[in-house]
Amino acid sequence: MAEIVIVRDKAEAGALVADEIAGLIRADPQTVLGLATGSTPLPVYEALRTRLKGVDVSRVRGFALDEYVGIDPSHPESYRSVITREVVEPLGLDPSRIRTPDGSPAGIEHHGDEYEQAIVEAGGIDLQLLGIGTDGHIGFNEPGSSFASLTRVKTLTEQTRRDNARFFDSVDDVPMHCITQGLGTILRARHLVLLAFGEGKAAAVAAAVEGPVTASLPGSAIQLHPHATVVVDEAAASRLDRAGYYRYAYANKPDWQGL
Ligand code: GLP
Repeated sequence: MAEIVIVRDKAEAGALVADEIAGLIRADPQTVLGLATGSTPLPVYEALRTRLKGVDVSRVRGFALDEYVGIDPSHPESYRSVITREVVEPLGLDPSRIRTPDGSPAGIEHHGDEYEQAIVEAGGIDLQLLGIGTDGHIGFNEPGSSFASLTRVKTLTEQTRRDNARFFDSVDDVPMHCITQGLGTILRARHLVLLAFGEGKAAAVAAAVEGPVTASLPGSAIQLHPHATVVVDEAAASRLDRAGYYRYAYANKPDWQGL
């Protein structure tokens, strides 16, 4: 099962995960990061700013989880723009080494395969950051997504479009389609780190971590991964049946294990 780490707040989560990422980059300047968008990973990116000062990040590579199809890459809410604004620029990464799936409609049927190829050529993803949608989606793998799926075009659910409408003028402006790493792509990463904050995520977290492994709840795919870490605040942990055990296990964790 995944390791569940219950923290006080977003800042503690950000510090914990940023320490891990900074350690990876110091040990291997060619670390390949899997980058998530949404509000959840922001405390990690924020905490990385200070931790990467003076660290050579010129060879770090990054692959975003997903992108909207048909959105202008220069649109402020394209995931390309979000990753540039929140990650690439503040951390001083080389933009040519950070990719997002290509959501341009021309040749879209090939863009998933091209993305998979690029990840393989980079040597695979060392650490994949993940958030989780209220319907249990990870990346943009909506309920029903195959556990074997690779990067491909998906149709967003109405709930996801409503959830993401806050980034656009109205729900009608949220694109209908996306291109997302598949659950199979995500499961190939060497370490998964899923973060969730707030009461609104509590049901999805409990289902992903303690519920049955099912395509109906894509986040439950992390139960199949040999090295998955779930970092949640108290509110997001509030529906976990075994929270007491997770706290006890983490408090007694051998130092050599790391995150
Ligand atoms: C979007 C992204 C997901 C993200 C989810 C949750 O749908 N494609 O990668 O996990 O939103 O967003 P937030 O972190 O803002 O709650």
